[in-house]
Amino acid sequence: MLFTSLIVLYVLLNVDCQRYRTPEQLRIIGGEIVSIASFPFVGVVVLKPLGSIKDEDIYFAGGTSITAPKWAVTAAHCVIDFQREIKYGRVFIRSNSTIWSNETSLEMSEHLVLNVIIHKQFDGIKDDYDIALLKVKQEFVGKYERPIPLAEVNYKFKAGTLATILGWGTTTLGAEPFTVLELRATEVNLIDPKVCIDKFRNTSEVITTRMLCAGAHGRDACVNDSGGPLVQNHTLIGIVSWGLECASDAHPGVYTKVMVFTSWIRRIQEKY
Ligand SMILES: *[C@@H]1O[C@H](CO)[C@@H](O)[C@H](O)[C@H]1NC(C)=O
Ligand SMILES: *[C@@H]1O[C@H](CO)[C@@H](O)[C@H](O)[C@H]1NC(C)=O
Ligand SMILES: *[C@@H]1O[C@H](CO)[C@@H](O)[C@H](O)[C@H]1NC(C)=O
Ligand SMILES: *[C@@H]1O[C@H](CO)[C@@H](O)[C@H](O)[C@H]1NC(C)=O
Ligand SMILES: *[C@@H]1O[C@H](CO)[C@@H](O)[C@H](O)[C@H]1NC(C)=O
Repeated sequence: MLFTSLIVLYVLLNVDCQRYRTPEQLRIIGGEIVSIASFPFVGVVVLKPLGSIKDEDIYFAGGTSITAPKWAVTAAHCVIDFQREIKYGRVFIRSNSTIWSNETSLEMSEHLVLNVIIHKQFDGIKDDYDIALLKVKQEFVGKYERPIPLAEVNYKFKAGTLATILGWGTTTLGAEPFTVLELRATEVNLIDPKVCIDKFRNTSEVITTRMLCAGAHGRDACVNDSGGPLVQNHTLIGIVSWGLECASDAHPGVYTKVMVFTSWIRRIQEKY
């Protein structure tokens, strides 16, 4: 039994929710600790290996945002191999708490994930259509569990305006721990798509119309921030997806552009 769970975990760790494509693992730079009370739509996706009792055994899959009483959205690449784990009741969303780990948080609430819907066009090589929805068993009704409005299809992006990113991703340059206990946030500027395409022209990466770029000198999302929100005007406009480095002036962070998927999200939430 234990052996099986170790194999499963090993497989999962190999496809884990790394935002970064290069081994350089920097940090959620320029961030500060914030309270869940100010951002009650944020949560964490965790996987509990078979037979795990202690929080140390828990696999941190990524960030997520509550979108409806029983739904949360994340990056597809964070949950791509989770179907089987969900079937066995091992995947949960943790919410209502600034601190993500059970052993230190009394207010944390844990929601069993019943279903994952990964976008059919998700491309794991390009990280295109990097979006997935998670349906939970118990509704998000906690004090600090509130859905966030989605960017509408006509949402106006203005290059240079600020947006907030949130996550429990690493703050230590390429070293453990790869997550922090308390939720952190920082602000980044939205970048004109043409400018972003140019910035990646010399790389093997492709910026598609399902992606949105944002960055700021010394501020960025990083490892284990994937799946978490990019927020502007109390609206979910992006999902942390990928990047080449962390907080590099050369290459900004890349986010799934939520407005492209707003009707998809609503359709799935009604259908399942
Ligand atoms: C938190 O951890 C304790 C001890 O491992 C466990 O008994 C309890 O069920 C956990 N709580 C939740 C909400 O998972
Ligand atoms: C959520 O957090 C608040 C504040 O810490 C706490 O009072 C509450 O019991 C927690 N759980 C739920 C389900 O609201
Ligand atoms: C965070 O990311 C690293 C690197 O991808 C991974 O090894 C680790 O298991 C993740 N989770 C935690 C809790 O640090
Ligand atoms: C692309 O690479 C070439 C050759 O290495 C370099 O001269 C040029 O400045 C680079 N352009 C950008 C936008 O980084
Ligand atoms: C945020 O909303 C306000 C009021 O609706 C609007 O005036 C402002 O332009 C919006 N800001 C951005 C960056 O979209």
